Amino acid sequence: MTDIHKAAEIKKDTENTEIKKVTGMSKVKDINEEISIERETDTIVVLDFGGQYSQLIARRVRECQVYSLLLSYDTPLAEIVKLRPKGIILSGGPASVQVEGAPKCDPHLFGLGIPVLGICYGLQLMAHLLGGKVTTSGISEYGKTELSLDGESSLLQGLNAREDCWMSHRDSVTSPPSGFRITARTLSTPVAAMEDEKRKLYGVQFHPEVRHTLRGMDILKNFLFEICKCLSSWDPASIIEITTEAIRRQVGAGRAICALSGGVDSACTALLVHRAIGDRLSCVFVDHGLLRYREAEQVVDAFQRHLRLNLIFVDGRRRFLARLQGVVDPEEKRRIIGEEFIRIFEEEARNIRDVRFLVQGTLYPDVIESGTRDAARIKSHHNVAGLPEIMDLELVEPLRLLFKDEVRAVAQKLGLPEEIVGRHPFPGPGLAVRIIGEVTPERLELLRQADRIVEEEIKSAGLYSQVWQAFAVLPGIRSVGVMGDERTYAYPIAIRVVESEDAMTADWSRLPYPVLEKMASRIMNEVEGVNRVVYDISSKPPSTIEWE
Ligand code: XMP
Repeated sequence: MTDIHKAAEIKKDTENTEIKKVTGMSKVKDINEEISIERETDTIVVLDFGGQYSQLIARRVRECQVYSLLLSYDTPLAEIVKLRPKGIILSGGPASVQVEGAPKCDPHLFGLGIPVLGICYGLQLMAHLLGGKVTTSGISEYGKTELSLDGESSLLQGLNAREDCWMSHRDSVTSPPSGFRITARTLSTPVAAMEDEKRKLYGVQFHPEVRHTLRGMDILKNFLFEICKCLSSWDPASIIEITTEAIRRQVGAGRAICALSGGVDSACTALLVHRAIGDRLSCVFVDHGLLRYREAEQVVDAFQRHLRLNLIFVDGRRRFLARLQGVVDPEEKRRIIGEEFIRIFEEEARNIRDVRFLVQGTLYPDVIESGTRDAARIKSHHNVAGLPEIMDLELVEPLRLLFKDEVRAVAQKLGLPEEIVGRHPFPGPGLAVRIIGEVTPERLELLRQADRIVEEEIKSAGLYSQVWQAFAVLPGIRSVGVMGDERTYAYPIAIRVVESEDAMTADWSRLPYPVLEKMASRIMNEVEGVNRVVYDISSKPPSTIEWE
């Protein structure tokens, strides 16, 4: 047992603490409830028609330092107007406008005088709703395609007469609505871009948000700065100011308790809240026994050295393991861990008197992926959808509208050390979602040792900061091997190393063979119970980064 665990044991044994049922209903807030930010900065609304790149559009806008919000396509017009957006972007989507029940926005959107840019399905919908013609020709265009520009265009200004763009569509606009001019074509698409300068309506069949459209960012910048006249004011300094102010407004003179995980998200969250309410914030770090090798000590040490925050350490190892006994379903694991977290926070909050707020480092992609109406639910993230229905603390989630790269930039600006800013993401449910099947102390220890080796080798190869995540997985199967002259029947370990910009998509890392070889041989030699190592070469999609 380590020193911090011993100290925690002496402090109290929370294992049998009775959970008091409380009645204050506090469900996860809707994204739309948290739109106070927009009043203070130029906003672009992205309407999501279920396209795979919808979130990417919102990110690209933020990369131009303009605030963007991703909303469902059927958000009532009045709500959109209330946000006072400087522009609206209609995303792509898998539907065909010609099919009954296809997702549609309110057609009055085009008469608000607010510039609108339709992308792919968004262009087709704009054409369809305004009297143009959309046809399913049977010829689909997919991938890199040459675009030929046709005449003057505010949206495409600065581009060459021919440019590469990224296409992914089956339907095409064959006749634009009246008032529109065709501004670009491809060999098989007669309307690759169109615009009605007078009404400030623009559409492109290709995807400017995808990097393969080489001048895509220039097109988005034309829309944001030339057409919508946005100011680029969404930078780390203003995010810090706006967020701090929002926290002060929400928490008032109250006290808050913050869940620290050791990652950049919760550290950044804690610093922001500390900035807003000072010592009325207490941070709680729970060791749920599902952490990586010596992680608990490292986190406590880093936070005490760098953050000087009020830190409470809770040793919940036995408690979590007991609840996970016999559980094999990944969603059930997440639900149990999420619930247990919240119960611990509630108990800690009761110890610090008058705490009304629970601070969490939830990010925008977690919110989106945990179920906007249009994105299919893939997994519940334990800090969003896994929350129990009944809890007695109000949530404060300052990063709820930020993407990871924005969080890192803010964290840097707040002075967090590189060891925290650059730390790889680690799921809240920890190693539990990297052990397929039941989580037992033996399996945890085995995975922890293998994972330590993966991390050590990635670091010693100088690749840690170049990859998004690098870790080990314990698939719950065993296979035959031979050691010495003995037959073995032991676990395989899967190594997972991925590159990604935002975890929404990811590619497996082409690690040099010597690095893989060293990891594999060390794992098989040093970790008892392992006789095989495999490398996961799946990308996301169709896989996910984690195995569960
Ligand atoms: P997937 O496996 O969905 O992971 O491709 C995307 C990113 O999210 C992390 N992840 C989680 N983080 N709670 C978290 O806080 C979770 O339940 C969870 N599941 C996945 C994962 O490590 C990756 O960075």
